[in-house]
Amino acid sequence: MAAIFRPSANLAAKFFLLGMGGLLAGGVFWWWVYPRTDYARGVGWVIDQPVPFSHEHHVAGLGIDCRFCHTSVEVSANAGMPPTYTCMTCHSQIWTNAALLAPVRDSLAHDAPIAWKVVNDLPNYVYFNHSIHIAKGVGCESCHGSVDRMALTFKAASLTMQFCLNCHRNPGPNLRPRAAIYDTEWRRGPDTPSPDALMKQYGIVNRDLTDCSICHR
Ligand code: HEC
Ligand code: HEC
Ligand code: HEC
Ligand code: HEC
Ligand code: HEC
Repeated sequence: MAAIFRPSANLAAKFFLLGMGGLLAGGVFWWWVYPRTDYARGVGWVIDQPVPFSHEHHVAGLGIDCRFCHTSVEVSANAGMPPTYTCMTCHSQIWTNAALLAPVRDSLAHDAPIAWKVVNDLPNYVYFNHSIHIAKGVGCESCHGSVDRMALTFKAASLTMQFCLNCHRNPGPNLRPRAAIYDTEWRRGPDTPSPDALMKQYGIVNRDLTDCSICHR
């Protein structure tokens, strides 16, 4: 009986299978794993802005509340970006000639908003709303990190679906008292109400927050 395959074909077949396995693993990494890494999503990377605005100076240093600039965060889907005259309430008096602020003065002179680049962005097929999170005790920090310590703003969380679901599965431990929503340095202490008490206080009823239609409508 003549052998169809020589013994060395075994080895070739093994290499072939190994190669296919490698390609498959590489493919999965490239198409699925890599796009979801913090690196690919620019987490922690500063974006060059037209004006090097510092939250550290304005929030931690001067004590300005988030809502002074992001005025619609409590009432609408979008947090909103400050119009130039918000900056000018102060900068028409201080640092009036600073070169750093030239784009701010130009914006006012030409009545054109400053072209801030987007730091956090979700695909259009995801529905997101700021106001419900603020109303139900989720702090800015849970999604944006310690903004008050950012000399230049960067994305602090991946904002992948997994990121959203991690909290939606069990929001209780991530909730905070109302007074701490805008405090990006707040930590749970002995006096903090329990997760269950907070769930009750905010009237978060027992429903499935991981239901697809919550975020994909
Ligand atoms: C004095 C005005 C001012 C205050 C106060 C302020 N911000 Fe901002 N914020 C800005 C400006 C201007 C930008 C756009 C430039 C930048 O990205 O740094 C911005 C950008 C951001 C962004 C990124 C927006 C994007 O494109 O995704 C987040 C998140 C943010 N602010 C959160 C906060 C939080 C949280 C607070 C309070 C702890 C706060 N800000 C207080 C003016 C302000
Ligand atoms: C409540 C007053 C106030 C408002 C509102 C304000 N600033 Fe300032 N800003 C200051 C002060 C005070 C300094 C000097 C801070 C320092 O050097 O410690 C400053 C400094 C700066 C600087 C210099 C770099 C730095 O951070 O030290 C830039 C750039 C700047 N502001 C941009 C802006 C922009 C853009 C806005 C509007 C989104 C804005 N500021 C709104 C008070 C304000
Ligand atoms: C549950 C997560 C979450 C919380 C809590 C949250 N944000 Fe955001 N924020 C986001 C996401 C996601 C985006 C991007 C939205 C998009 O692309 O549609 C965003 C975008 C922004 C922007 C850019 C402008 C806009 O509305 O798209 C600003 C400014 C901002 N957030 C400020 C704040 C402030 C201030 C707070 C606290 C009062 C806060 N955020 C709380 C998730 C959050
Ligand atoms: C730290 C916790 C936390 C994170 C992170 C979070 N959420 Fe939420 N989300 C909540 C809570 C709490 C509610 C309010 C639930 C309630 O009232 O029943 C909520 C409600 C919502 C609602 C409104 C649901 C409805 O129909 O009333 C949407 C939409 C939503 N989240 C989308 C998102 C998206 C998209 C992300 C990720 C970018 C996200 N959330 C991240 C805690 C979180
Ligand atoms: C709490 C909010 C939330 C819920 C609930 C949710 N998603 Fe998503 N989903 C997202 C976000 C945010 C993204 C965008 C991720 C990104 O930027 O890549 C996403 C992306 C996706 C994508 C695109 C591929 C991907 O993973 O990036 C698919 C498919 C998807 N979701 C399906 C579902 C299905 C099916 C369900 C129900 C089992 C579901 N989602 C529930 C927030 C949610």
